[in-house]
Amino acid sequence: MHAEDYEALFYKFPNQTAKQENETLESFILKHISKTSRILEIGCGSGHWMKVVTMRNCNVFGIDIDYDRLILANKSQKGKLVLSDAKHLPFRDASFNVALLLWTIQEISDDLVFARVLEEIARIIAYGGNLIIAENRTYNFSGAGEKSFLGIIHKGVLENKRLRLFSKNSLDECLETFNFRRMDYETVGDSFFENYQMGT
Ligand SMILES: C[S@@+](CC[C@H](N)C(=O)[O-])C[C@H]1O[C@@H](n2cnc3c(N)ncnc32)[C@H](O)[C@@H]1O
Repeated sequence: MHAEDYEALFYKFPNQTAKQENETLESFILKHISKTSRILEIGCGSGHWMKVVTMRNCNVFGIDIDYDRLILANKSQKGKLVLSDAKHLPFRDASFNVALLLWTIQEISDDLVFARVLEEIARIIAYGGNLIIAENRTYNFSGAGEKSFLGIIHKGVLENKRLRLFSKNSLDECLETFNFRRMDYETVGDSFFENYQMGT
């Protein structure tokens, strides 16, 4: 979906469900960050969540593979932006204490790329740091496979591409192999918001 359409649908003119999801996710993120957090959003898109966290005076960076989305992000928020594939995060080891992966997991459908992205996230987060994830879970959708499948409806919009969706425990198991443990979560319908901690 085009960056401006996504922005309008989920943030500028959200429907009731998207509004409730956005409010719940915002309070979930704010619960797990502080003024001293150094935050990286991976797949920051047009920068909606970067704007939310910069309001807390945090030090925020965003990376995205899509130049057009970064142009929009650049107009709307004050964090630092980098055009990059999440497979290679251009940051030093342990240089952040919070990583945000918000509605981005489903777009990384290739298993090898996904494993590489998690390896990179584990590298740039300091011991005890948080990985905050927003994603859709499969078990409310009929025909969903264990890890990913084709053509799911994402927040009411049919994306005609392969999307990665996890079932109940599969994301926890996957992240445990990268030394992350789930500490907190909330749900709104089929949307899950989770906080994983590194190395605990
Ligand atoms: C559904 S959008 C979510 C954007 C933003 N996190 C939000 O919640 O508004 C997913 C974003 O992930 C980005 N993305 C997908 N694969 C990526 C990759 N390999 N590296 C960096 N960004 C990626 C897309 O370009 C897109 O901006």
